[in-house]
Amino acid sequence: MRYNKLGWSNLLVSEIALGCAQFSSQFTKTQKTEADMIAIMQRALDLGINLWDTAPSYGNGASETAVGHALKGRRDKVILATKVRSRATMPEMVAESCEESLRRLGTDYIDILQIHWPSQDEPNDLTVAGLAKLVKAGKVRYASLSNFNKDQTDLAACVYPVASNQLPYALVWRYEEPLIRYCGERRIGVLAYSPLGEGILTGRYDETSRFPAGDVRNHCVFFLPHVMPLALKVTAVVKQVAAKHGVTPAQVAINWTARQPYISSVIVGSSSLQQVEQNAAAVGWDMDQDDYASLSKAGESYMASAPRFRTMWDR
Ligand SMILES: NC(=O)c1ccc[n+]([C@@H]2O[C@H](COP(=O)([O-])OP(=O)(O)OC[C@H]3O[C@@H](n4cnc5c(N)ncnc54)[C@H](OP(=O)(O)O)[C@@H]3O)[C@@H](O)[C@H]2O)c1
Repeated sequence: MRYNKLGWSNLLVSEIALGCAQFSSQFTKTQKTEADMIAIMQRALDLGINLWDTAPSYGNGASETAVGHALKGRRDKVILATKVRSRATMPEMVAESCEESLRRLGTDYIDILQIHWPSQDEPNDLTVAGLAKLVKAGKVRYASLSNFNKDQTDLAACVYPVASNQLPYALVWRYEEPLIRYCGERRIGVLAYSPLGEGILTGRYDETSRFPAGDVRNHCVFFLPHVMPLALKVTAVVKQVAAKHGVTPAQVAINWTARQPYISSVIVGSSSLQQVEQNAAAVGWDMDQDDYASLSKAGESYMASAPRFRTMWDR
């Protein structure tokens, strides 16, 4: 595992991060006991994954609670990233959200506190000022953003130096490339999320795949009947490259995102020990230039043919 500096901050984050949305039944179809979840988190640490990303909204606090239990006796080994709850825009709401997270996480500080989604109605400056106060109070080490566009990032950075912006980035989601470059050039770290397109790039699904009511994939754009065949064309190329290198399609898709410029870490959701082991081993090796080129070309063809969505869940 390699470690990258997170933007201008002093944090050295593993190039693969553990997405903790999977530690709530809302974001996975794999049932897990708390012992299973703690085993996945411990395995992630053993494999060198030091950055864990959670949020109050993942299972309405369930993910943070599970992470809190897993942190016992391991707090100093983890760079803990969580988020401000939705609609907490005023500084006092940000402080309240942080206190709730600290309680669930069973810790007295958060390494990276991110504004989960920018408000589209208000300028977000007061929310960033709320983060700044928490840094000053020693409850948060770094103020950060998530899903902020260029103008929103600029305004936030005028209010307070933000360490990172968490953005979606996968072969089937490349809209953010100019923004990623923009952040990278300003030494704002980039945490890339959903590199597997919520599973569409893993090779587990075909056009006949259907999901039970309530499954997260029913809300994800890549699984829409008119989008899935286009996304699966990218998966077909991912599978070819995986076969050539003797790795899994998931490892190829994650590797592609991790090797793009300005990416500090790739946040992957792992639902089992096998997945976290595979995902940690998605880096530490390189594809040929030809492989990167054919993957990039497949991604570009998808971007040119698929409908443009605002978010991965914009249906
Ligand atoms: N900032 C934001 O707004 C935002 C939004 C979304 C996500 N995130 C963060 O990013 C993390 C990851 O995002 P994500 O869950 O949307 O997408 P993802 O990482 O692209 O996909 C994760 C899913 O892919 C499947 N998977 C993972 N590893 C696999 C492997 N090796 N082989 C086969 N299947 C595998 C699992 O499905 P099953 O569970 O069905 O097995 C897993 O739930 C989240 O946990 C969260 O921390 C942040």
